[in-house]
Amino acid sequence: MSIVLGKNKATGEFVSLKKKTLKRHICILGTSGSGKTVFCKAVVEEAVRLGIPVIIIDPQGDIASLGLPGDPTILQEKGIPPEFSEEYIKNAEVRIWTPASSKGIPLCINPLKFSEEEMDVEDIIKAVDSIAITLIRFLGYDPETDTGKAAQTYLFQFLDYYREQKSPLGDLKTLAECVENPPEQLKERSSGVIDTREIRKLAKKIRFLATGATKLIFEMGIALDIDTFLTPIEAGKTPVNIIYLNTLNKEADKHFFIATLGRQLYEWMLRHPKNDPQLIFYVDEIAPYLPPHPYNPPPKDSLQLLMKQARKYGVSNLIATQNPADIDYKAMSQANTWVLGRMMTKQDISKVHHLLKSLNPEKANEIVAQLPRLSAGEFLLICPDEFKDNVIQFNARWLVTDHKTIDEDDILDAMPEAVINYFKQKVEEQEASRKELRAEKEAELEKIVEDSAMAEEITPPSAMDEVPVDETTAMITSKITEPIASEKTNELPENNFPEKQINIYFMSTIGPGEKKQKLLIDTDQMVNNIKETVSNLFGLNPTEVHLSYNGITLDENSILEEFNIKDGDTILLIPSSRAG
Ligand SMILES: Nc1ncnc2c1ncn2[C@@H]1O[C@H](COP(=O)(O)OP(=O)(O)OP(=O)(O)O)[C@@H](O)[C@H]1O
Ligand SMILES: [Mg+2]
Repeated sequence: MSIVLGKNKATGEFVSLKKKTLKRHICILGTSGSGKTVFCKAVVEEAVRLGIPVIIIDPQGDIASLGLPGDPTILQEKGIPPEFSEEYIKNAEVRIWTPASSKGIPLCINPLKFSEEEMDVEDIIKAVDSIAITLIRFLGYDPETDTGKAAQTYLFQFLDYYREQKSPLGDLKTLAECVENPPEQLKERSSGVIDTREIRKLAKKIRFLATGATKLIFEMGIALDIDTFLTPIEAGKTPVNIIYLNTLNKEADKHFFIATLGRQLYEWMLRHPKNDPQLIFYVDEIAPYLPPHPYNPPPKDSLQLLMKQARKYGVSNLIATQNPADIDYKAMSQANTWVLGRMMTKQDISKVHHLLKSLNPEKANEIVAQLPRLSAGEFLLICPDEFKDNVIQFNARWLVTDHKTIDEDDILDAMPEAVINYFKQKVEEQEASRKELRAEKEAELEKIVEDSAMAEEITPPSAMDEVPVDETTAMITSKITEPIASEKTNELPENNFPEKQINIYFMSTIGPGEKKQKLLIDTDQMVNNIKETVSNLFGLNPTEVHLSYNGITLDENSILEEFNIKDGDTILLIPSSRAG
């Protein structure tokens, strides 16, 4: 049972690694175009031949072609034995996951998903802390500042409390609601950690996540789950899960995704220890996610933990980078198999030299001297576990699949029909249950709106506190939880420009029946943001809505403050076609 890497340059014989060697991680370094991705894909193909499932982060879109069989004549020319191709094709079940997009299998994340089954107390606490820190960073806090620390501590106490109570928080909207209105017991625990004003801000930021394009990351498609990744649809197949990162536009979203995946994988392996390699986790171009000190992006913690501990659990990491100087040295040095490709810059070579001095001190100089002379697909293998201090120069084997960048629009062509249909049905099932839930919430909302309209017939609109506020549709605006006046007198503004908040009635003139909702709004918000939120609240498409005040259509790119709207005023939601 071995992994064929290629052919020895000197002897022409196959160079291979024992399956168990995979456990101590493989790190591959080389300049752009040196053949790193092809090499790693060959390792994946080999793992699949041995029946080891794979999870891959594909930042460039050129790993997804693992789903396309290679041209038989090319395979013959490259001297690939036919059984390599036959076994891969027989075993592989390629799934291309596209976060926040339906170009492939849509994948979303639930950052609150957490299973403490078979975890010890220390690991549980670490996991909860990791959820808190990942979330607050995604929310835009800097955990090094006092405000960031306070938000993290509060969220930690909060998540820990609900974990202890065994009460699931469900989605982000519920989280925001609960964050803002904590139970008494939790209030006591967290007193002195954070003030009401900061709690409201935290809840507001969480509500932001549940609106706009960001919400796709949380709601579109199949929820990320390691067991789903590892369970084949067809018995006997080996899942190859490729996470096509380019469907996420923002760097912060990619970081958040990888951080959540890393954490879930870490927790999964603690629950499923195995001595044999049971899974390969391949991250191509890992540098932005595992940079050296003092950088600390969200995925770094879990990637460090995986590099340090995964071998004990049979999870093998395969990492590649063209920038060895831009990757955390300590994490990188956990690897025990090194594959070095062409390298040109002094900075990269000196980094590798430094590493080799501890790995293979006698040959360090000789090895680095060879690096600039290697051609694409030519590598030096250093693997003390199997080859002691021998350095093996080899030509990496070519792939049994195509090697090309797959465009978003061609992703479906790179997956088997059975996989597409299976997950399409799963997505439909999940969407149907979400729709059902939404319909229930909308019915509740309509009832509340009707009740509030009836109440208004008897009560003048100025008596605002008597207008019921919808409990179910928490969006970006803060709900009224205490009279505003008392908040203002009890709290010191944190800067010279305190936020101003006013109550506004939003009335929809679109669709059947009038709907009205009172919300507490920060006047320093963009009209566009407010419009998006309120449209969602009324179940309308924001692109078809404009906001209107006193007969004037509010400019989307202005701040609400500019329109001199007062506490208790009404803003209308009008169709775009009627906007002036
Ligand atoms: N084993 C190989 N045998 C023959 N040619 C190879 C081999 N590996 C790579 N090449 C050639 O080098 C090209 C670049 O390979 P690859 O995409 O793996 O590079 P890379 O190091 O991942 O580059 P980048 O940093 O740009 O992602 C391939 O398209 C192919 O032409
Ligand atoms: Mg590459």
